[in-house]
Amino acid sequence: MSEAPRQPLPVVVLISGSGSNLQAFIDGQARGELPIDIRAVISNRADAYGLERARAAGIPGEVLSHRGFDDRASYDRALAEVIDRHEPGLVILAGFMRILSDAFVTHYLGRLINIHPSLLPDFRGLHTHERALESAVQVHGCSVHFVIPELDAGPLIVQAEVPVWPDDTPETLARRVQIQEHRIYPLAVRWLAEGRVCMREGRTWMDGRPLEQTPRITADTRVETL
Ligand code: GRF
Repeated sequence: MSEAPRQPLPVVVLISGSGSNLQAFIDGQARGELPIDIRAVISNRADAYGLERARAAGIPGEVLSHRGFDDRASYDRALAEVIDRHEPGLVILAGFMRILSDAFVTHYLGRLINIHPSLLPDFRGLHTHERALESAVQVHGCSVHFVIPELDAGPLIVQAEVPVWPDDTPETLARRVQIQEHRIYPLAVRWLAEGRVCMREGRTWMDGRPLEQTPRITADTRVETL
C-alpha cells in the first residue's frame, strides 16, 4: 500500500530587506521541488523589496513596524500574534534584521530556522564577510540552523562552503556566499517539509538519528540528489 501524499508544510517567512532567499523558496515551490505553502511574508520594514517579490508571487505580505512599540517584548508578542494567525508549521527567518526575545524563540522552538552568512560557529553576529577577510580564512560560507535563545548558536542543519580569493572584497565574497544560500536554504526547508529533519533534545535529527556531522555542500554538490 502506498503512503498518502504529505500535505505541503505551511510556512511564514520573515524579512527586512531584499528577500533573495524568499525568492529562492518561491522559485523552488513553483518548480515543484519544495512541498511548502507560503502562507505569508512579514516584514518589519515597509520598504523591503521582498514584499514586492511576495506580491508578484501572489503571497500575502504584511508589515509590522517595530516603531511605536515600547520594547522588544511587546513587539515580539504582536509579531507572534500576526504569525500565529497563519498557523505555520515552520517560521523562516530570511534576512529579518532583529534580535528576537527569548520568549519569542521559545514559543517557536523547533519550528524556527535562520540562515547565517558564515560557517558557524565562526563569525557569529554581524559583518561576517568583512571579518572573514580580516581573519584571512581561505574558506567561508553559510549555515542554516534552528534558532535558540543564544544568538547564532542553534543546532546546525546544513552548511555550504565557498573559497575566499586574495582579491575578494566583502561584496564579491557576499555574492559568492549568497549563491550558496539560495541552494542550501531551500534544501533545509525541503528536508523539514519532508519530515526528514527535526530538532529534538537540543540537537538536529536527520532520518531518525541525531546528526553526527553537519552536511557540508560545495559548489560542485548536486543538492537535488540529497
Ligand atoms: C542573507 O545574506 C542572510 O545570510 C542574512 O541576511 C541576508 C538576507 O538576504 N541573514 P535576502 O534579504 O534574502 O536577499
